[in-house]
Amino acid sequence: MRMQGSVGLIGLSPATTELRQEIEHVAGSDAKVLITGESGVGKEIVARLIHAYGTRVHAPFVPVNCAGLPETLLESELFGHVKGSFTGAYRDKPGKFELANGGTVFLDEIGEMTLRMQGMLLRFLETGELQKVGADRVGSKVNVRIIAATNRNLGELVALGQFREDLFYRLNVIHISVPPLRERKEDIPLLVDHFLKGSAAVDRTRPIALDETAMKALIQYRWPGNIRELENVIERLLVTCRRDVVRREDLPPGIASDEPAYRPLRERRRTVADDLYKRLVEERESFWTVVYPLYMQREITRSNVRELVRKGLEEARGNYKVVTRLFNMDRRDYKRFLNFLRKHDCQLPFKDYR
Ligand SMILES: Nc1ncnc2c1ncn2[C@@H]1O[C@H](COP(=O)(O)OP(=O)(O)O)[C@@H](O)[C@H]1O
Ligand SMILES: [Mg+2]
Repeated sequence: MRMQGSVGLIGLSPATTELRQEIEHVAGSDAKVLITGESGVGKEIVARLIHAYGTRVHAPFVPVNCAGLPETLLESELFGHVKGSFTGAYRDKPGKFELANGGTVFLDEIGEMTLRMQGMLLRFLETGELQKVGADRVGSKVNVRIIAATNRNLGELVALGQFREDLFYRLNVIHISVPPLRERKEDIPLLVDHFLKGSAAVDRTRPIALDETAMKALIQYRWPGNIRELENVIERLLVTCRRDVVRREDLPPGIASDEPAYRPLRERRRTVADDLYKRLVEERESFWTVVYPLYMQREITRSNVRELVRKGLEEARGNYKVVTRLFNMDRRDYKRFLNFLRKHDCQLPFKDYR
């Protein structure tokens, strides 16, 4: 994540101003904070600012994504492990709690933690004692501030029995809800400006501004992927737009169109590819975790994948690199993605979409 120097939260809308006040307020205490909000609204930035304005600023801020790793790896990531505790554990390794001692641990996507991990986390929160994977004794105590975040409704997960109620109350001492971008549209021009400048390091030549029609389209759009989506759109423009001043027609079609983002029912029926596309582009899931397994298990067909790729290419104007990002894959997965498409005869000629 980029956080240049003293950049705080960009935005002057009432919602963002209020958020900034909340951050300053909780930074002064050492209480646990639970940050909720849709994906891409800036939960991690909020956590970093709470740390930066607090008394722990000279100690580390250590983020951990609780969704990205299988349970056993997450356990070792958080608590550390001792040499020989599992294949590949060649030496003792400190966990994130230990590395963050004196500072803050940011537990991102806490709603995805398994119940067993939740139990281990709760035990740690109660005692402050670290039990490394493979260690026969409880280790040293550490002192960390915990900030957790989720885009799920934890209360609902508690009701469903998927999240421990006692852990929920322990984490939810102070609750900060970060509003979606569509509820603070006044911030859009400032954010656009910020991203145009910030990304300029990549390619300083163009574009340097948006004309009124383009800005209006951005303000009208619903931004299901919030600020992250806006950031991606601006970054893509810097790569794809051939003009200095971006016009409405240079924007991705979904954004430039006058239609509301929730398309009315009069349209054709949603297809499998539409649903997949929505999961990737709006719900920010990855091609590898959604499409790939479904295809390999023959739950979706080759033509579903081709249709999905077609939609991606349309949005990305024929740029497969951009499709890779759009489908939430790492940049480095570009080759792997193309190989997959080639192998399964799903690679469409990009020239048709230029
Ligand atoms: N108010 C803001 N000002 C500037 N950049 C922001 C702001 N909010 C979010 N961002 C940027 O948007 C992206 C998504 O933010 P992040 O904190 O990762 O969201 P979340 O954790 O809620 O999914 C990041 O690149 C972040 O730097
Ligand atoms: Mg995040």
